Amino acid sequence: MSILVTGCAGYIGSHTCVELLNAGNEIIVVDNLMNSKKEALNRISEITGKSFPFYQVDLLNEQELEKVFIENEIDAVIHFAGLKAVGESVRLPLRYYHNNITGTINLLNTMKKYNVNRIVFSSSATVYGMPQKVPISEHFPLKALNPYGRTKLMIEEILRDLYQSDQNWSITLLRYFNPIGAHESRMIGEDPNGIPNNLMPFITQVAVGKLPELSVFGNHYPTADGTGVRDYIHVVDLAKGHLKALEKIDTSNGVESFNLGTGKGYSVLEMIEAFEKAAGIPIPYRIAESRAGDAAICFADPMKAKQELGWAAEKDLHQMCEDSWRWQSKNPNGYEESNPHLSKSGDFFYAKK
Ligand code: NAD
Ligand code: UFG
Repeated sequence: MSILVTGCAGYIGSHTCVELLNAGNEIIVVDNLMNSKKEALNRISEITGKSFPFYQVDLLNEQELEKVFIENEIDAVIHFAGLKAVGESVRLPLRYYHNNITGTINLLNTMKKYNVNRIVFSSSATVYGMPQKVPISEHFPLKALNPYGRTKLMIEEILRDLYQSDQNWSITLLRYFNPIGAHESRMIGEDPNGIPNNLMPFITQVAVGKLPELSVFGNHYPTADGTGVRDYIHVVDLAKGHLKALEKIDTSNGVESFNLGTGKGYSVLEMIEAFEKAAGIPIPYRIAESRAGDAAICFADPMKAKQELGWAAEKDLHQMCEDSWRWQSKNPNGYEESNPHLSKSGDFFYAKK
């Protein structure tokens, strides 16, 4: 298949591009690089030995986006592009609504114009709000707690309305739980700007000596050790879920949501312990105030994805921690400083203007 990937240079997009290429698909990729580096694209080419066209295009620019559809045959779209920081979305709601929602509407308009009607959308477990019970199934009530979450929920609703209006569309909403880990080559991984918001990149930056200690946000939750519980999933497993979703939209129309999680929950203290074991490095931490808006326990019921997509996560917590550490330790400054042992000079992808 020939797949347009938006947000290709980001954390999940880059890992999915590798899996798409390794499975023999062609990719056409788009990113405005507002939260990522071009070097990620070099690395994708290096891992797979394949090249692909890259358009440095903002989804807010519909004319530029249209060129991508004019110049390429596209069978389906995987839509990762979006802003994702919860705290920033509270401070800058208009930026989030404009980027995520207008960007998606531009994409859908252009798809419609060029008769491309298959899309896989990056949704999030955040659409379940504060879940009343676990494990979380797709039919649970939906509620967003912040502007970022509302963009995900609104886009899900826009896509459902779109299908109601035209049943030739084939749409998959993938609700990710907590992706961590990195590609086993340690050439691509998560490279957050500034101080990380999320647990695993914070832990790896403490381990590499960039940050002094981890703050554990609260230890009075109703969980076994009092700290928050989440469903961490290896980013490569998550990436593979997209290939299964593509198979589904290739053969049937409709709009369907799927949880992509492991179905297992780990507490913050269990995560620290698992990381220390995998990396052989102690992680200093202190107990801090709980973070506003955090749920106590959140983990998926992943059965629908297993039954209907034939997908299940395979990698365990040890592998997730090991791969997170292998990436961070080999790339202490992320993609910023190209490591000559990892990435040869020169662009392996070709940039389109
Ligand atoms: P990321 O920030 O690493 O990647 C997103 C990419 O989209 C970046 O490369 C960014 O430059 C690009 N982008 C943003 N706005 C754009 C625009 N207007 N035009 C073109 N490119 C644009 O994020 P990620 O972790 O890879 O997440 C990918 C998707 O999955 C996002 O939609 C995110 O909301 C969703 N998601 C992520 C998580 C997570 O924990 N990482 C969890 C649930 C859902
Ligand atoms: N935590 C800490 N210290 C930190 C960071 C996090 O103790 O420095 C704790 C949190 O309180 C929580 C757990 O670690 O209990 C996981 O926190 P993350 O920030 O890594 O992940 P969240 O589950 O809060 O949120 C993430 C994304 C959301 C997304 C959600 C579900 O940030 O955008 O996963 O996919 F919606």
